[in-house]
Amino acid sequence: MSAQDIVIPDLGGADEVEVIEIAVSKGDQVAAEDPILTVESDKASVDLPAPAAGKILEITVKVGDKVREGDVVGSLSVAGGGEATAEPQEETEAAPADDRPETVAPPKDPPAEAPAPAVHADKPTADTSPAPAPDIADTARVHAGPAVRKLARELGADLGRIKGTGPKHRILKEDVQGYIKKQLQQAQQGGVSGSGIPGVKLPDFSQFGKVERESLSRIHSMTAANMHRSWLNVPHVTQFDEADITDLEDFRKGQKAAAEQRGVKLTPLPFLLKACARALQALPQFNVALDLEKQELVRKQYIHIGIAVDTPAGLMVPVIRDVDQKGLWALAEEAADLAERARNKQLKPAEMQGACFTITSLGGIGGTAFTPIVNTPEVAILGVSKAAIKPVWDGKAFQPRLMLPLSLSYDHRAVNGADGARFTNLLAEVLGDIRRLLL
Ligand code: COA
Repeated sequence: MSAQDIVIPDLGGADEVEVIEIAVSKGDQVAAEDPILTVESDKASVDLPAPAAGKILEITVKVGDKVREGDVVGSLSVAGGGEATAEPQEETEAAPADDRPETVAPPKDPPAEAPAPAVHADKPTADTSPAPAPDIADTARVHAGPAVRKLARELGADLGRIKGTGPKHRILKEDVQGYIKKQLQQAQQGGVSGSGIPGVKLPDFSQFGKVERESLSRIHSMTAANMHRSWLNVPHVTQFDEADITDLEDFRKGQKAAAEQRGVKLTPLPFLLKACARALQALPQFNVALDLEKQELVRKQYIHIGIAVDTPAGLMVPVIRDVDQKGLWALAEEAADLAERARNKQLKPAEMQGACFTITSLGGIGGTAFTPIVNTPEVAILGVSKAAIKPVWDGKAFQPRLMLPLSLSYDHRAVNGADGARFTNLLAEVLGDIRRLLL
């Protein structure tokens, strides 16, 4: 056993630096390159690593002291010889634990840093080869002490992305913890895509006029996260078409008395549900989920369709099960019941799960076309706009026909363009002559 000084190394041009954190105390066992203390210039902070494995005998500086290159800031007792210096990292790690001197603690934080001081630059360095003494003046301004760096390494946090709230924007433990917490929350809400797309910075709107702030409802937050996730993950294509629903409307209006008797309103929606169920059966490539992890298609043997419902609290999508097996009246009743309960916040979570496909109808409101966002993991969604009378050429003359605009968005990884057009063709055929539903 012999004592070895802990000396401030070449600071890469910085003159005098301040001790901002001390990571060890007298009696601590350290492995070679374990951070001993952190010094900070006005440009960056630098960890001073242990020159060798051993036991700290003393630290002669305190936080706030100014030190220069060559200053002795403490000493440690080293097994085997006073001149021992830190070995290259590979050798330290390669040595079997049993071969280590008894007094040497195993590295607490593998992989350890290189023997040169670690500079807290934008990204934690993964390079374990001995690095030249850093040029503090050239390094990025990321300030963090050894304990914080260790925590960030353990949690896999990139210090370059964390905003420091300490003096001179130094990153504190709480900053790392807060960052990780936020990432987890966003991931749970599906808000983080890992795409690295920079966020949108908001100006101070009050400089332009009076503003009020209100919290997003839970439904609004969840919808926003789902939309964002789908928009970023799914390559969308939207196919537009029109269905001639003149005859369908005549039939629907003809059922008014029967509908009143049953106490149910027969809107175009049940017909759309039936037509989509038929199209999903005829083109089963729309009734799938993509499992990219396993490189598989999940083919669904059931036909459950979600309907987007506009509610005061936000958009909700209850699901009608086994649409292919239900009649128009049953679908009309179920859709009305689900929409009503969605608006009254009475839906059970299970009633909003399991859809194969979604219909979003803005027909009662207006518009000629739109590009709906696929409700992942479904691979397609039908947007319906307001039907309007249009002149349609019948080969001899223009006829006034009631045309229903259809906007089918699909995931182009699962569905190709030709099938997109086939799907809307089929919808137009079925809605154009609902007797086809009987075939
Ligand atoms: N073209 C013309 N008129 C239409 C139509 C269309 N495509 N679709 C519905 N209508 C008519 C209906 O026949 C009804 O008219 P009527 O009272 O004279 O019979 C009127 O519009 C209102 O219908 P609505 O009450 O909306 O019933 P619905 O069955 O068509 O729709 C919902 C039910 C739940 C889908 C609907 O109320 C809703 O919430 N739509 C919004 C969905 C949404 O926000 N999507 C956006 C997602 S991003």
